Amino acid sequence: MTDSQSVHDGAAPAGAWAAPGRVNLIGEHTDYNDGFVLPVALPQAARATVRLRTDGLLRLHSAQTDGGPVELSVADLAPGSVEGWAKYPAAVVWTLRAAGHEVGGADVHIDSDVPTGAGLSSSAAIECVVAAAYSDLHGLGLDGPALARLAQRAENEFVGVPCGIMDQMASVCCTEGNALFLDTRGLAQRQVPLDLAGAGLRLLVVDTRVKHDLADGAYAELRAGCERAAALLGLPALRDLAPAGLDAALDRLPVELRPLVRHVVTENARVEQAVALLDAGDLAALGPILTAGHASLRDDYRVSCPETDLAVEAAVAAGALGARMTGGGFGGSVIALVAADTLDTVAAAVTTAFAGAGYATPRTFTAVPAAGAHRIG
Ligand code: GLA
Repeated sequence: MTDSQSVHDGAAPAGAWAAPGRVNLIGEHTDYNDGFVLPVALPQAARATVRLRTDGLLRLHSAQTDGGPVELSVADLAPGSVEGWAKYPAAVVWTLRAAGHEVGGADVHIDSDVPTGAGLSSSAAIECVVAAAYSDLHGLGLDGPALARLAQRAENEFVGVPCGIMDQMASVCCTEGNALFLDTRGLAQRQVPLDLAGAGLRLLVVDTRVKHDLADGAYAELRAGCERAAALLGLPALRDLAPAGLDAALDRLPVELRPLVRHVVTENARVEQAVALLDAGDLAALGPILTAGHASLRDDYRVSCPETDLAVEAAVAAGALGARMTGGGFGGSVIALVAADTLDTVAAAVTTAFAGAGYATPRTFTAVPAAGAHRIG
């Protein structure tokens, strides 16, 4: 079949899907330790129009990049063979085939308003939207967790980043108005109502616009450190260490692993506390938990950086109820829980603090809990 036939053949299965980026309220670097997370999907999403092709070609176009489509042969896809943004959709097609699904090529047009490099899961959004589109168009019937696992495998094996499953589960399984309480061991999930407006609150997102280079290597090292600590303690994962046993466990570990373990154990406890507060309708009390989570990421896990530390400090000094970095760290974004009538003051205070420190002007916006991946056309 020629190119123009496959593109314009009205009978070819086609449609449009959306999958969102996310912020994480609390539970950072816990997912690859089989722990708890509490992400919220953003209204910003990757949108993909997909039309299947029968000639084995994957033609990928992004509204965010100049130039024509990236054209790939599905049969030739292999880890490491694709560079740039195109590796994310290509990874999903490769993974589907590696998982035994007989899928071929497609024309894929992606338009995303999830900020890239901001710790808001723009790549997971692309992976999840393509996974959802392929599952529907090929009638694979993959449910939310299956789509998320597939997208995570794409990131791990094709892209080569050893991420956990939080971002992909958030992008697929979040629902409007809720945070997703997820046990990453076994993927038990519960939607927890997050009626910020009803509580007179807002969730401010500050994209610091910095991404430090060490992010990927450092992430893999931190993950390896956690796995080593769990092995030394004789546990399947750090999730299996209860807070009551923390001090005794730390005594048995080499000094350099102790802060990692302390972060993971206290962070899991913070997720459970946060969920209890949301269940009780006490949203404002979440603030100090967020700030404590940031201190743990800064002092124990050491994935914050001067820009995210300053954003947190300036937000809290200007009256935010609490603030913390969100995502993997080394730059990226900060979330701040604020009373609705202080939203502008807090955002302005962070911007002023950044100008004073000579940092680039941060981008600020308000997060409203949105829906996970779904068909839009
Ligand atoms: C990145 C990874 C996630 C998670 C976070 C940290 O976003 O993709 O799996 O580990 O970092 O919580």
